[in-house]
Amino acid sequence: MLVAPSMLSANFGKLESEVKAICEAGADKLHIDVMDGHFVPNITFGPVVVKHIARVSTKPLDVHLMVKNNTFFVDLFAPLKPKYISFHIEEEKHPHRLLQHIRDLGIKPAIVLNPSTPPESVEFLLDNLDMILLMSVNPGFGGQAFIPTVLEKAKRLKELLTKKGSKALIEVDGGVSDKNIKELKDAGVDVVVAGSYVFKNDYKEAIESLKV
Ligand code: DX5
Ligand code: ZN
Repeated sequence: MLVAPSMLSANFGKLESEVKAICEAGADKLHIDVMDGHFVPNITFGPVVVKHIARVSTKPLDVHLMVKNNTFFVDLFAPLKPKYISFHIEEEKHPHRLLQHIRDLGIKPAIVLNPSTPPESVEFLLDNLDMILLMSVNPGFGGQAFIPTVLEKAKRLKELLTKKGSKALIEVDGGVSDKNIKELKDAGVDVVVAGSYVFKNDYKEAIESLKV
């Protein structure tokens, strides 16, 4: 299991040391939650702040857009050279085109599905994406309770990927902890995002407990 701590739960008052500590604690990549106050009722960081995270980080960035104007935000974050940019399918009329645009920028494209969006919605996008992010909370805030129906969804998605011969990774985001990591692994999940669980505990021990 790969682990991507969500910087949303970091102490922004000491962001530089938080980034260094989480990289040294064994994070595989840093998850960056970008919220615009329109798609979700919260606002987080823009490229000015994330640029400093990128400068200090020794690990790649995983940018999760929770915004209304996806293309605008993709072009805003692309110069920071994140490894992944993911956007919500619920907010994109032309997902196929935007995935290709992200790839043309030299970034791995990914799609995010809200808790009620079926896994089959990515079926005709598989040739064009490297990862599917399944939300296990409603996007907008850290520290929410895990929605267990994501387990069945991950299993169905895994079957679909196998059937179609896709090597896309399955990532799960929201309410992940040592309490549900085993079930996530069994459901075929490759990467987990964890915010409050990692930042409220010893970073290294928490990350290790998720590497099942
Ligand atoms: C929610 C974000 C998540 C969140 C995860 O909108 O996408 O990445 O920060 O935080 P926890 O692990 O606390 O649920
Ligand atoms: Zn996220």
